[in-house]
Order: sequence, then C-alpha cells, then structure tokens
Amino acid sequence: MRHSHILPLALSLYFLTLFLPSQARYHYHKKHKHSNYHNAPEISPSPSPFSGPSSPPDEAPCPSPSVDDNYRNTSNNLFDVRAFGAIGDGVTDATESFKMAWDTACQSESAVKVILVPQGLSFVIQSAIFTGPCKGGLVLKVDGTLMPPDGPDSWPKNTSKRQWLVFYRINGFSLEGSGLIDGRGEKWWDLPCKPHKGPHGTTSPGPCDSPVAIRFFMSSNLSVQGLKIKNSPQFHFRFDGCESVHVESIYITAPALSPNTDGIHIENTNDVKIYNSVISNGDDCVSIGAGCHDVDIKNMTCGPGHGISIGSLGNHNSRACVSNITVRDSVIKVSDNGVRIKTWQGGSGSVSGVTFNNIHMESVRNPIIIDQFYCLSKDCSNKTSAVFVSNISYTNIKGTYDIRHPPMHFACSDSVPCTNLTLSDVELLPAEGDIVLDPYCWSAYGISETLTIPPVSCLLEGLPQSISGNDVDHC
Ligand SMILES: *[C@@H]1O[C@H](CO)[C@@H](O)[C@H](O)[C@H]1NC(C)=O
Ligand SMILES: *[C@@H]1O[C@H](CO)[C@@H](O)[C@H](O)[C@H]1NC(C)=O
Ligand SMILES: *[C@@H]1O[C@H](CO)[C@@H](O)[C@H](O)[C@H]1NC(C)=O
Ligand SMILES: *[C@@H]1O[C@H](CO)[C@@H](O)[C@H](O)[C@H]1NC(C)=O
Ligand SMILES: *[C@@H]1O[C@H](CO)[C@@H](O)[C@H](O)[C@H]1NC(C)=O
Ligand SMILES: *[C@@H]1O[C@H](CO)[C@@H](O)[C@H](O)[C@H]1NC(C)=O
Ligand SMILES: *[C@@H]1O[C@H](CO)[C@@H](O)[C@H](O)[C@H]1NC(C)=O
Ligand SMILES: *[C@@H]1O[C@H](CO)[C@@H](O)[C@H](O)[C@H]1NC(C)=O
Repeated sequence: MRHSHILPLALSLYFLTLFLPSQARYHYHKKHKHSNYHNAPEISPSPSPFSGPSSPPDEAPCPSPSVDDNYRNTSNNLFDVRAFGAIGDGVTDATESFKMAWDTACQSESAVKVILVPQGLSFVIQSAIFTGPCKGGLVLKVDGTLMPPDGPDSWPKNTSKRQWLVFYRINGFSLEGSGLIDGRGEKWWDLPCKPHKGPHGTTSPGPCDSPVAIRFFMSSNLSVQGLKIKNSPQFHFRFDGCESVHVESIYITAPALSPNTDGIHIENTNDVKIYNSVISNGDDCVSIGAGCHDVDIKNMTCGPGHGISIGSLGNHNSRACVSNITVRDSVIKVSDNGVRIKTWQGGSGSVSGVTFNNIHMESVRNPIIIDQFYCLSKDCSNKTSAVFVSNISYTNIKGTYDIRHPPMHFACSDSVPCTNLTLSDVELLPAEGDIVLDPYCWSAYGISETLTIPPVSCLLEGLPQSISGNDVDHC
C-alpha cells in the first residue's frame, strides 16, 4: 500500500506525544486576545483567501465554564474537554468548553496537541467554526459522542443552518477516535422543502437549509480516521478548498431515504485518499465536484445509496476541471448508480483520466453511467457547450444490476462527445429476471478491449470530427 503524506504525519504526531518530553508549559488563560473559534458565521463557499469569517464574534461575553483540575494534564499535551468545563451528559451545551479547549490547544507551543472527547460521555455543541492556523499539529480525538442541537427548532437562531462543525485554515489536523458523531438529522429530513415531502412526490415551499455535519475549508494535511458518523442533516463530510486529505476506516450510516446525505463530498480539493471505509446513506457515497484532481478511492463498501459520483459539473454554465481520479477495489450495493459521471449542459472544462478498476456491483440500477444531460427540472434546453469527458477507463467491473435500467449508459453531448472510453472485463448480469437491456450509447467514442457482458456494440470508433479542433477546453 502506498503511503500518503498524511498517514506518516498522523503517526508521527502520536509518536511525538508518546516520546517527546514536554517542552511547552500548559498555559491556560481565561481570556484570549485571538480566539481561533467562532460560533458559525457563514463562510463564503468560494475558496478565496479573503473569504474568512468577516467579524468573528470574539467579543461576545462568554459564560466561563468552571475549570476542573482533575482533568487537566500538563504532562502530555492532552486537552480533555472536561478540563474546560464540558459536561458530557448529552444535554448540557458544551460549546464554550470546546471553544476554550480548541483555543488553548491551538495556541500551545508544543509540536502536537490532542483535544480529547472522552469515551462514555456525550457532548452537545452548537454550530461552530474551529479556526487555524495553529502552532504545530492538532488532533481532535473523539472517543465519546458529539451531537448538535436536535433539529431546526432547537438550532440557535444566530448560528449557521448550513454547517455544523467547520475546520477552517488548518494545516496538519487529524480528526479521529473510536467515538460517534451523531448528526441527529431526522427533523431536518422532514422539512417540507425536502424531496417527496409535498403531495405526489413533489416538494413544498418552506425553509430548506440543513447543516453539513463536518466541513473542512481551505485546510491542508488533514486526516479523518476511525470515526463513526451517522444521520447528518445534509452531507456528512465536505472538503472544500483543501489539499492532502486522507480519510481512513470511517463508517457512515444514514437511512436510504434521507435526502442529500452524501457520505463524503470533495470540491476544489487535491491529493485525496479515501480508503477502507463503509458508507450507507440516502445519496452519493462519495461525490467529487469541480476542481478536484489526484484522488484515490480504494476498498470502499457503498450502499444502499447513490454510488460514487463525479459531478454534477457545469451547472449554471460553469467551468469544471476534474482529472486523475481512481476508484478501485470496492463494492457498491443496492444503489441507484454504481460509478457515475454527470454533467449539466452548457458547462465547460473537462473530466479526464478517470479509472474505475475492480468494482463489484450488487443489484445496482445504473452500474456504469455517464450522463451529460443531467437536469433536475425536466425542461432543460439543449445547449452546445458541455464539459468534455475523455480518457475514462472501466476495468474489471462485475456483478449484478437492477433490470429497471440498462447496465451501461453513456449519454454524451452532441456537440462535445465523450472520447476514449475504455471497457475491459466488464461483466454485469441481472440481479433478478432475465431481461437483458442493451447498453445505451449516445455520442460516445471508445472501445471494448474484451468481450463484455452484456456486449457493447454502440461505442463509436476513433475520434469525432468536432474534437480534433481546438474548440474543447482541456483545462
Ligand atoms: C448566540 O446567542 C447566544 C444566546 O443569546 C449567545 O450566548 C451566543 O454568544 C450567540 N452566538 C453568536 C455567534 O452570536
Ligand atoms: C496525565 O498524563 C499522564 C501521562 O500520559 C498519565 O499517566 C496520567 O494518568 C494523566 N493524568 C490525568 C489526570 O489524566
Ligand atoms: C503539509 O505537510 C507537509 C509536511 O509537513 C508540508 O511540507 C506541506 O507544506 C504541508 N502542506 C501545506 C499545503 O501546508
Ligand atoms: C477494507 O476495508 C475494510 C473495512 O471496511 C477492512 O476491514 C479491510 O481490512 C480492508 N481491506 C484491506 C485489504 O485493507
Ligand atoms: C494521480 O494521482 C495520484 C494520487 O492519487 C498521484 O500519485 C499521481 O502522481 C497522479 N498522477 C499524475 C499524472 O499527476
Ligand atoms: C436534446 O438532445 C438529445 C440528444 O440529441 C435529444 O434526445 C433530446 O430530445 C434533446 N432535447 C431537447 C429538449 O431538444
Ligand atoms: C488522454 O490520455 C492521453 C494519454 O495519456 C493524453 O495524451 C491526452 O492528453 C489525454 N486527454 C485528455 C483530454 O486529458
Ligand atoms: C485513453 O485513456 C487512457 C486512460 O483512461 C489512457 O491511458 C490512454 O493513453 C488514452 N488513449 C488515448 C489514445 O488518448
């Protein structure tokens, strides 16, 4: 197994905690001039270096939880949240204590600091932004349970409803532990605006914002390891504007009918490794948005859910560049899609260098799908520009499909066809019944290197005339 930048980092952080004599004294001040913690003002979705929280409400007078010396440990740079007054009774608000633990650990001079959420206890915290940069590496070790307030009605009015815990501008941070993050999404999923909450499968008007459980924004050298996370109101993890991310051995669950509960969403994020994790939810297992490259996804078990998705890209005529993505050695079961690339018409940019290798499908509706006509409103008009899709390889994709849809579906743009789609060792059989639908191709160029099951004869050979010019945006 290839090692990432982050695994050695995380390991060396532990190493340091174990063996370094403590150089830094444990400074604890009740008042910090520079708080690195904020109750959630919105962070702009655009990863501009200037888009930080505009006016951190540092000055808000905070009730000072009592400091319990029994949990203070100056010898090993361990910052137990109980030392800052957090009471893990599953009811009492621990936001201010987490704030103090974060600020103290972040400002501590030692090479690595561990903020501990102890086992057997359950802490409620409000929407919050934990901000770096910090001095040295930081670990948030969740061995107990973390929960947000329960549903929209108990969400504090003055905190963001679009995100719960945000880690912002941090280099060298690990979120890990044997504990649980419980997103308590149930009441959010029932908002009238959610799909199918209106009559006849429609939506009804009403407030719709729901928080992403864990968001990393403009951060680097991140590791998320070992945690269980369930029932997020919206995406479970979102990485946005990040670099060098390693997600390892995490376990995500939410009901199959929970709306928009993507497991891991990445955008504008590079050098990503997502390994050895199990995700079942109501939306994409992993979704890869615009601006991602160098992403390696391995040994995932996905489903029920919507499979692994690149996109949607090119919405509102936007430009999207996605390249060098590998998904391998994984299982996708009882899902709406297997491996999917979806783009809106009217976009530009490209998706290229994507490898899907050694993926086992079980009762998947669209095991292999490219959809360049992605549209939610049903009245999207055809447009001439599109995100260019090329160099996509499908190797050793085997298993079963749900016969309601053809097992392979390549619907590419008329004006910007897909090129160099390569199939090899693809064998997909109906999970039930014996109707074998023919693969579907539209404007799709590529080859089948081996005989596939079912056979694909609809791919076009060579290159389209229109692609030979310079009219395609290669990113
Ligand atoms: C939100 O309101 C609560 C209670 O009024 C207050 O304690 C808290 O500091 C406020 N948070 C922000 C971010 O203004
Ligand atoms: C403080 O850390 C030391 C070394 O890891 C450990 O032996 C001791 O039990 C800890 N004390 C408390 C109060 O946690
Ligand atoms: C990530 O960590 C490595 C090793 O510590 C460091 O060289 C690199 O600059 C860090 N990346 C960023 C974007 O800060
Ligand atoms: C794959 O991931 C699972 C956890 O989902 C783990 O138990 C297993 O050991 C991993 N396999 C390999 C080869 O790493
Ligand atoms: C593709 O991404 C992998 C990491 O997933 C990286 O090791 C490799 O160098 C990248 N390839 C190119 C051509 O950039
Ligand atoms: C858009 O183009 C596709 C493929 O050529 C065609 O099947 C579809 O009917 C068109 N839709 C509209 C609204 O023109
Ligand atoms: C497809 O791959 C070939 C060979 O690696 C490369 O020359 C070409 O630039 C790639 N096409 C795109 C659009 O990235
Ligand atoms: C087709 O794409 C594959 C990667 O999927 C690449 O290795 C190969 O070189 C490409 N071929 C051409 C002719 O671009």
